[in-house]
Amino acid sequence: MKNLSILCRFTRSIQRNMLCSVAGLVHNTRHAFSTLREDPELDEMMEFLDSLKNFEKSGVPKGAGTDSEDGFDLGRMRRLMGLMGNPQSRFKTVHIAGTKGKGSTAAFLSSILRAEGYSVGCYTSPHIQTIRERITLGKWGEPVSAKALNHHFNTRREVIERAVKLENGCLSHFEVFTAIAFSLFAEENTEIAVVEAGLGGARDATNVISGPDLAISIITTVGEEHLDALGGSLESIAVAKSGIVKNGRPLVIGGPFVPSIEYILRRKASSMSSPVVSASDLGNRSALKGFCEVTGIPRQLCDIVLQIEKDYDLSIELLGVKLRMLGAHQLQNAVTATCAALCLNKQGWSLSSGAIRTGLESAFLQGRTQILSSEEANLLGVSGATILLDGAHTKESARALENTLQMTFPKAKMVLVVAMANDKDHLGFARELISVGDLDAVFSTEVDIAGAKSRMASASLLKCSWVNASREMNMKVLDLKVAESEDQSLQAAGIVKSQSILLAEGSLLACIRAGVKILNERAGEQPGILVVTGSLHIVSAVLGYLHS
Ligand SMILES: *[C@@H]1O[C@H](CO)[C@@H](O)[C@H](O)[C@H]1NC(C)=O
Ligand SMILES: *[C@@H]1O[C@H](CO)[C@@H](O)[C@H](O)[C@H]1NC(C)=O
Repeated sequence: MKNLSILCRFTRSIQRNMLCSVAGLVHNTRHAFSTLREDPELDEMMEFLDSLKNFEKSGVPKGAGTDSEDGFDLGRMRRLMGLMGNPQSRFKTVHIAGTKGKGSTAAFLSSILRAEGYSVGCYTSPHIQTIRERITLGKWGEPVSAKALNHHFNTRREVIERAVKLENGCLSHFEVFTAIAFSLFAEENTEIAVVEAGLGGARDATNVISGPDLAISIITTVGEEHLDALGGSLESIAVAKSGIVKNGRPLVIGGPFVPSIEYILRRKASSMSSPVVSASDLGNRSALKGFCEVTGIPRQLCDIVLQIEKDYDLSIELLGVKLRMLGAHQLQNAVTATCAALCLNKQGWSLSSGAIRTGLESAFLQGRTQILSSEEANLLGVSGATILLDGAHTKESARALENTLQMTFPKAKMVLVVAMANDKDHLGFARELISVGDLDAVFSTEVDIAGAKSRMASASLLKCSWVNASREMNMKVLDLKVAESEDQSLQAAGIVKSQSILLAEGSLLACIRAGVKILNERAGEQPGILVVTGSLHIVSAVLGYLHS
């Protein structure tokens, strides 16, 4: 471990050089980054949705996801769907709840179904850049187009407004948008929808799906997010999540779970006569084998081997699957999705091993260990280093990111560019990542947020958390203040060759460019890795810049 000695005892001129180069870039790019506005074509729909209660912005009330007096009223959602002609009954649904891994499992499973040629709708939340990402359709699983969404909204608007009136204005943004998604899936003749629960409780709007419409339910993991909304304990969360189990319909559980939690899920399934398939079954002999590259982008090589005999006989052997989604947790999600696919085969769907492999390999989510192509890096004005975007913003997700980085790039030099919302655990986040690999520098920054509740922590406050985290861990850091000045090259990168981690703040693009410069100066056999993380907003800002 590096020595305790926070500080910058180096000459003024070196310091000035370093500062100038960071600061010089700050000015040119001040306004280039802010999260995108929705497509103008969606103005009317967004205006309507914004007139409704939005719990994603206001926070979810205590107990809202539990099956109790405090719970959201699912009756409201049922009446809305009834008025709309129950579109959710015109296709089969795989319903996914869980604390972590819902979105990735949904991505794997919908990708598998598409690879077999089924017409698939996928409904997830939240989104990174546009609300359209929440509804994906079609052969490639693209977000619904603004045109199609707007058109569909207009055809349903009258009936939705009638429902809002009947409920005295008590329909939420999430409820109405979920109804629009289901209605759109029906309209597009979707055969099967993969639906991620929002809050994930018994009273989640998506839980309007009834037994006969459900193909299977999946519970990925049970952890302590939304603790208050789901009743205050891990057990109450498990009970709330198991509210998606339906009579006689199979339940796939991911895990691994602590025994008391698995017991709750299994007891619920058994009370509903639902067969249970566990991805953490002893018959799971899947393993991470190593890494390879496909068109310059790293992938993880996995064997997915299942031989499950309880409740159903399920088996598959896929060797050398090249997952684009990285990390041990993604192997776990891939195994869960594979269990679900095999379970669907028991119900008369026919997903071949080939389609399962293709689906797993092509599944991809923006902003989860997303590696930019060299063209994309060029658009940011950098080349040489690998740029990775990850929306991690809790200490748990930072730990998962840290594990993935250690595993995927064990020897690479790293630079982090971090922005975080001000209500997050900045110190906890920094603690998880400060010991990652061969860390050269951490840049703190801020991005503008359009239309979200959270505000960003100031870059200087954020930097303090990293100074404090490094102090706790006995790491040596160089703490630089950014002064305003003209553009200069980063000659001072040499000083980073010392054992210290450079900490500095600046605008997003300036930080990315300065970070890549440092990595290129220090390039060893492997290219360095620049990781942009801390919030979905910073990921969104980079993607927005690339797509503008
Ligand atoms: C399946 O087994 C692999 C290898 O032991 C493990 O990494 C993975 O986490 C397991 N999956 C689940 C869902 O338990
Ligand atoms: C860092 O530590 C100092 C001294 O303990 C404390 O005053 C300060 O509030 C901390 N700052 C952050 C952002 O954690």
